[in-house]
Amino acid sequence: MWIRRRRGWEIPEHLATPESVFLDRRALIGGAAGLAAGSLLGGGRVLAATDTASLYPAPRNDGYALDRAVTPERFSGDYNNFYEFGMSKTVLPAANALKTSPWTLKIDGLVEKPFEIGVDDLVRKAGLEERLYRHRCVEAWSMAVPWTGFPLSKLVALAKPTSGAKYVRFETFMDKAMAPGQKVFYYPWPYVEGLTMAEAGNDLPFVVTGIYGKPLPNQFGAPIRIAVPWKYGFKSAKSIVKVSFTADRPKTFWEGLQASEYGFWANVNPAVPHPRWSQATERVLGTDQRVPTLIYNGYGEQVAGLYKGLEGERLFV
Ligand code: MTE
Repeated sequence: MWIRRRRGWEIPEHLATPESVFLDRRALIGGAAGLAAGSLLGGGRVLAATDTASLYPAPRNDGYALDRAVTPERFSGDYNNFYEFGMSKTVLPAANALKTSPWTLKIDGLVEKPFEIGVDDLVRKAGLEERLYRHRCVEAWSMAVPWTGFPLSKLVALAKPTSGAKYVRFETFMDKAMAPGQKVFYYPWPYVEGLTMAEAGNDLPFVVTGIYGKPLPNQFGAPIRIAVPWKYGFKSAKSIVKVSFTADRPKTFWEGLQASEYGFWANVNPAVPHPRWSQATERVLGTDQRVPTLIYNGYGEQVAGLYKGLEGERLFV
């Protein structure tokens, strides 16, 4: 992002593994899922211990297909933005300090009745499915991954927002002892993101609890994050502890830091450059090629209608 931005994605890496290879691997992981709680899987990473581990891999929803190969975990799992654990892309070792169980989500603000719910209870209530999504970072790299989770609209229904709710605000955990990045005083912690209620009601925003057919490894934002695939990646807040329904537009983390570069809307648009670099193309993690970036990251058919009448807003920053 804007401070000490690294250009690691410009170093050539191997070509992406075709999806069929991932699928074979998925079957293997499926067999091992019962052993997943508290065990080592996926390149020696410690998985979150959870008694919902047996629910992975979840059935795939084929309504969400990809135009490209799935990015192998060895690339996506070692190249992360998670500023709570440092500003480099290799936050994986530091993120092992994140204690993900027990984990409670607080639902508050303009709802019929605020409540708290454990992530495992929430998962059991909502059910799980797998979706293949593209992910486009504002830094002009991208990946394509199999997220496991459930539509955000299910969480909204559970929360029962009142008619005054216009926005949904996501807040990441705050714990300086666990997350040394939060000691960096010039960042406006905690990490906050938000969507309009209309955006939240769309089919695409996904509450994510797993990836690659298993519970989320810490560096991806365990135990619960969101994925908003038509927006720049910073909209997809990780390790969420609070979901609030508000009348006013939430002040988001990156907006608080540099509003001219990272706005509230942040819809992907190749024709609107970031003030300091082009957004016309992107480097797909695990490949040494740049591909053209698509308007709304390729999800225009599903989401363009959300922005009718909002043309006066800075929709693509
Ligand atoms: N959420 C929190 N809490 N902290 C962060 O630093 N980085 C964002 C987003 N969510 C971030 C976050 C950015 S810039 C991106 S591109 C994605 O997470 C990266 O997700 P990934 O590491 O799973 O690829």
